[in-house]
Amino acid sequence: MTEVKINTKRKLGVIDRNIYGQFAEHLGRCIYEGIYVDEDSGIPNVNGMRSDVVAALKELSVPVLRWPGGCFADDYHWRDGIGDKEKRPYMVNTNWGGVVENNHFGTHEFFELCEQIGCEPYITGNVGSGTVQEMRDWIEYMTFDGDSPLANERRKNGREEPFKLKYFGVGNENWGCGGNMRPEYYSDQYRRYATFIRNYGEEPVFKIACGPNSVDTRWMEVVLKEAGQFMQGISWHNYTYEGDWDHKGNSCVFDEKGWYSNLADAERMRKTLIKQIAVMDCFDPENKIALIVDEWGNWFDCMPGTNPGFLYQQNTMRDAVSGMVILHMFHENCRRVKMANIAQMINVLQAMILTEGEKMVLTPTYHLFRMMKGHQDGELVDIVYDNGAYEADGERVPKLSISASEKNGALTVSAVNTKLDEDAELEIELDREYSEVSAELLTAGDMRDCNTFEEPEKVSPVKLEAELCANKVRVKLPAMCIAAITLK
Ligand code: AHR
Repeated sequence: MTEVKINTKRKLGVIDRNIYGQFAEHLGRCIYEGIYVDEDSGIPNVNGMRSDVVAALKELSVPVLRWPGGCFADDYHWRDGIGDKEKRPYMVNTNWGGVVENNHFGTHEFFELCEQIGCEPYITGNVGSGTVQEMRDWIEYMTFDGDSPLANERRKNGREEPFKLKYFGVGNENWGCGGNMRPEYYSDQYRRYATFIRNYGEEPVFKIACGPNSVDTRWMEVVLKEAGQFMQGISWHNYTYEGDWDHKGNSCVFDEKGWYSNLADAERMRKTLIKQIAVMDCFDPENKIALIVDEWGNWFDCMPGTNPGFLYQQNTMRDAVSGMVILHMFHENCRRVKMANIAQMINVLQAMILTEGEKMVLTPTYHLFRMMKGHQDGELVDIVYDNGAYEADGERVPKLSISASEKNGALTVSAVNTKLDEDAELEIELDREYSEVSAELLTAGDMRDCNTFEEPEKVSPVKLEAELCANKVRVKLPAMCIAAITLK
């Protein structure tokens, strides 16, 4: 029996709802087919947005969506994606499979998608191959309310009111696919581009600088030192693998070693996150700049037989388990981590949803995000327990990771058991009495279980028995599971 003590009086910060953000790039079948189809296709849609996918995403209460990339962003010219669809120029998507992009999904379609899902838009601009003027004009086109040629062009294209744009990223991975820049050079570029991101609307645009990849703390240091005063947020990308970049592993064919080494990689991510935050604390001691983890998730080898440039992978219980461990890391560091965008929303990497023509399946990661909804904007509360850490692939991996938050008088407790062969019994001691408890569990018969088009509900949440007695709740967590408990 593991004793867990929750002290709701000790609040540790707010879990920004944007930690549950999503990312959709023009990559593989994420946008086309995954989200957007021809209006006259047989797949039910509203203005091209798939009705089944939009309904499923609404269930997640997606807070924010990042678009159009990723690497695609620094090759994207927004003017190609406005106006009459039939006249929009084609381009070659050089980053992702060399396929032809017809630009039918552009600025107006992106805002329409956000409106249908009910989330904030987060757009990444083109620094790598675009100009300062192109970026400044895009902002004016989208957000200016007055009489200007760009605002009038937007009106001519069907949008009278300005779009509400809250978050804007100044380039993506400019240390790599976004221009192979050095941090000194990018810092100067950032200062220049960011100057011309004007505030036309009532709410100022929240500017996000391109931050480092994974363990690169020097990029973080230089960019904060040279340009920190001009940004509200800085990004950080960290993918997790079965091993590392050269040994990504198969998404649904793996053994116990593959299970545990992926969890060990999540622990390496924890250490790196703490290091990056320590650098931020040096250069921004007042905690004014947000850490925006705008790409994270499991990156495995693409499914055999699929286009290697499309990054299509399956999604198993392993993704749900390591996903919860990582989301808890963001909770623990919510003082700095104000947004995170899992890569990517549909059909790419650690996706919420997979589609095949008109068919759609919800992945274990989708269930994880739905089960975690209660944490969005909740106040993280103090929790004490023995996490039963064990050794795996050179790291100390927690057997149990538990997080609790309070919102509108309700307490959400999420818990993950990472062990493949050991159950766990939790006795959760609360510092006040609750009258109602409900709980959900996601587990599988086999660690490789996933939802397929033939068996779409193989890994699905079930009710978890939770016994509430005075100020104690008891639950039994089977091996390899995630659970969410709500107390009112
Ligand atoms: O998410 C896939 C790719 O990973 C993104 O385009 C890029 O930013 C990162 O390298």
